[in-house]
Amino acid sequence: MQVHVAKFQDMIDLLTPWAIRVAATLRIADRIAEGTCWLPELAQAVKAEPAALRRLLVFLETRGIFKQVQADRFQLTPLSEPLLEGSPFGMRTWLDLDAMGGRMDMALGGLLHSIRTGEAAYPQVHGQTMWQDTIDNAEFGRSYADLMATHAQWVTPELLKAYRFPETGTLVDIGGGSGALLSAVLKARTGLKGILLDLPEAAAAAQQRFEREGLAERVTVQAGSFFDVWPEPQGQALYMLSWVLHDWPDADALRILQRCAEALRTCQAGRLLITEHLIGEGAQRKIATAMDLRLLALCAGRERTPSEMEHLVVGAQLQVVERRVTARGIHILGCQFDGKC
Ligand SMILES: C[S@@+](CC[C@H](N)C(=O)[O-])C[C@H]1O[C@@H](n2cnc3c(N)ncnc32)[C@H](O)[C@@H]1O
Repeated sequence: MQVHVAKFQDMIDLLTPWAIRVAATLRIADRIAEGTCWLPELAQAVKAEPAALRRLLVFLETRGIFKQVQADRFQLTPLSEPLLEGSPFGMRTWLDLDAMGGRMDMALGGLLHSIRTGEAAYPQVHGQTMWQDTIDNAEFGRSYADLMATHAQWVTPELLKAYRFPETGTLVDIGGGSGALLSAVLKARTGLKGILLDLPEAAAAAQQRFEREGLAERVTVQAGSFFDVWPEPQGQALYMLSWVLHDWPDADALRILQRCAEALRTCQAGRLLITEHLIGEGAQRKIATAMDLRLLALCAGRERTPSEMEHLVVGAQLQVVERRVTARGIHILGCQFDGKC
């Protein structure tokens, strides 16, 4: 029984995750790594009240993050490494309470509202939708695009291995974020051109990326909403919805798919590629169900099972013609217009 209670207490603890986010936001690990490890100097460097900062650090020491080596002198531990800027997968950025990562976490405080209503909690907590936040506040828009780039960094090698992208034509990345995935595909397929459509801040970040990486001549970036504008590629096109549909409830996801279907109907040689995690059984289930609840709270989105996704696809007059699942459970669905109208 005691073991169960201890496990339960660990599960309900909000303080540790919150204290770690505060340390990440203040960039304490970076300052210590630079040699600012004496409390009064550290407090000045991170703009904190010294006695309060000491309380945070000694608490985190009990969790194995930071170590007090002498009175008021702190050093890093292996567990503080994810808090360093540039650590793998941008972990610090995901935890930053001043940026979109932390803002999304704060929205989870409204989960009760989501469960009672089926609506997103983010607008209840922050006053407007997550997407409007990224449009109205350039800083939030940029930080969301950065987070998506860390996600793309993680999934791109696996997608490139699992799917044979075409050598020529145009890859149209709908909701393509800051272009990390499109850029990687274009580097691997030098005869391919690209179009990226996303909201203004992500589009601006993508444009900068393509210029920086010498791809600007091969890519057109379009800023706007996929509910209002739509790219018009010349010739053979592969449309891509990469981790886009899960951000939307069924009615909106269907509208996005219908726009793709309309584009494929008019472009004979076209195909749509949908890539995201779908809910299955086994080890992936714990991650997928967590993401599902998170998406509900953030944007009334959802993770779908393979049959739920197929149902949506078919409802938009599309047909799944190829299907792959990668080692890490990424589903890749190739779809065509079903040609019935
Ligand atoms: C989960 S991210 C996926 C980004 C990228 N495709 C990837 O796989 O890393 C969803 C993307 O959809 C974009 N988005 C959201 N609403 C949009 C809209 N109405 N029109 C265009 N893009 C939108 C977001 O800005 C974001 O870049």
